[in-house]
Parts: sequence; C-alpha cells; structure tokens
Amino acid sequence: MPPRPRTCFLKLRPPSSPLPLISIRHFTSSPSSSPSPLANQKILITGASRGIGQAIATRFAQEGGRCILVGRNRAVLEEVKGGLACVGDGGREHEHEIAVGDVGQEGFWRGGFRGRKDVTHLINAAGITHSSPLFTTQVSSLESVIQTNLMGTMLACRIVGLGMLKNKQGCIINIASLLGLKGGRGSSAYAASKAGVIGFTRALAAEAGEKGIRVNVIVPGYIETDMITAMPPSARATALNAIPLKRFGTPSEIADAALFLATNAYANNCVLNLDGGLSAM
Ligand SMILES: NC(=O)c1ccc[n+]([C@@H]2O[C@H](COP(=O)([O-])OP(=O)(O)OC[C@H]3O[C@@H](n4cnc5c(N)ncnc54)[C@H](OP(=O)(O)O)[C@@H]3O)[C@@H](O)[C@H]2O)c1
Repeated sequence: MPPRPRTCFLKLRPPSSPLPLISIRHFTSSPSSSPSPLANQKILITGASRGIGQAIATRFAQEGGRCILVGRNRAVLEEVKGGLACVGDGGREHEHEIAVGDVGQEGFWRGGFRGRKDVTHLINAAGITHSSPLFTTQVSSLESVIQTNLMGTMLACRIVGLGMLKNKQGCIINIASLLGLKGGRGSSAYAASKAGVIGFTRALAAEAGEKGIRVNVIVPGYIETDMITAMPPSARATALNAIPLKRFGTPSEIADAALFLATNAYANNCVLNLDGGLSAM
C-alpha cells in the first residue's frame, strides 16, 4: 500500500511581503522503503530564510537531512527552522540549527565553522542583486554584490570545505545565475559575481574532486521569489515572453535540481541550467 499523502502548512515570513502559507504535500516513508542517502546528513544552506535557499532546506529536510540555516535575520530563520520539523522526515526542530551572520564576512565563517567537520553538504544560495546601470551604481553597491555573491561563496567553501577535506568527502552546490553566462542590462556587478561563481565552481571541482569533494553549480533563469518581485510589469512580460516554457521557475524546481546533484555520486563540475529554455534563445 502506498504511503498516505499528508499536507502540512508552513508559515513563512519573507521580510518584504505579507505572510503566505505554502502547502507542502509529501509522503511519509513506509517502513520498508530504503533510507534516503541524505538521512541524518548535515546540510548547511546559506540564504535559507526565504526563496530558493528555504526551498532547498525544506526539500533536504524531507529527505531526512539535518539543516544548518544561514541568514541575517534570526527571527525569520527560527520560523523556517520550526517549519522543517513538519515536513517528511524533517526530524525534530532541535535537530536543525541556525547561524546568523553575513556570508561575505570572513569572521562569520571563522567564528562559527572553523574546525567543524560534521557538515556533509554545503549549499551557497545567499545572494543579492541590483538593477541599475554601471555608471550610476554606487561603488559601495558594486562591492556589496561581489562581496555577498562571490566572496560569500568562496569564503564558505574555503572554511566549510576544510572540514570536508579532513573527512575526504563532501558535496558543495553553488547557485549562480543565467546572467553570469548571458548579459543583461542593469546587472553588471550581479552578472560579474555570478560568472565568478561559475568559474570558481569549475576550478574547485578540479581541485577538490580528487580529494573526494564534489562541487557543482546550478544556473537558474527567472525563479519566482522576492528577488524578482521588484521587476516592472513590462520587464516581467518581456521576460516571460522570451522563455520557451512561458513561465518563471519555482524555488522547489531548483531544490529538486539540488537534490539530484547532492545524491548523484558521479556529479562533479556540473553546470546545470534551469531556465525554462531561456538560454537557448
Ligand atoms: N530568483 C531568481 O530569479 C534567481 C535567478 C538566478 C539566480 N538566483 C540566485 O539564487 C539565490 C537565491 O535567490 P532568491 O531568489 O531565493 O533570493 P531571495 O528570495 O532574495 O533570498 C536571498 C537570500 O539570501 C540571504 N542573504 C542575502 N544576503 C546575505 C548575506 N550577506 N549574508 C547572509 N545571507 C544573505 C537572504 O537572507 P536575509 O536577507 O534574511 O539575510 C535570503 O535568505 C541567489 O544567489 C540568487 O542570486 C535567483
């Protein structure tokens, strides 16, 4: 008999929008089903307070992973952590952790993660964007985009990866963007940071692969999150029209791709685009 579906409502509070209810339909594992390869693995996810990072945390918790949620807002992370206990084999709330800080600051990583060897999977989803031409963008904005998106990813890999090196195994998944491969008006620093994430991932896959650590990158197109809610309606319509599938992706579709990369033992140096076909245009 197949397991019975259960519906669970997670209360999620993105800071910039009203409180939505997200319905997560899942199946409880039957006693005879084999355990997920992610069961009791320690998954560190940056940008876990909302959007893609939160969807990845939810998906991995469903598989029995124990999450460390990273973001800058403790209250929101606590709320996400509370929701994880309610999904699939999400475990008990106290089995997940939160770490509050700025991923672009080396001190955050050194203070919380130096010497820690229990993290099996690192997913770098924290990111910020800007929408302004280079010539009118403040230098401080250019710096903060690069510091968060590129330096944040490299610092996390450097400190958390040290623990993986000691264990001679680990899995790192970085989240880049199609803008890192294709140009786009008003996104010079963002595009540069994401091109950097792709180049960095490939170089690290060569270095770390031979030490048992797999490193891959997901390259999303437009995904329905807070990050794109500020798009003017006309830009949104133009973007939708350009996508062969005529819709934006969902955070859970990115989470499914992350799960594939996390569980496929031969995946290393994958540059996995998920853009509804936009990169073909
Ligand atoms: N949505 C898209 O269309 C799209 C497309 C391609 C790529 N991406 C990439 O996918 C990733 C996730 O994007 P999203 O759409 O889910 O964005 P989002 O909804 O705006 O979420 C961004 C996340 O990053 C965290 N964050 C930002 N700066 C941080 C910092 N300095 N330190 C720690 N955490 C920080 C935020 O947490 P707090 O603000 O609570 O700290 C939040 O959890 C990003 O790397 C983004 O560039 C998104």
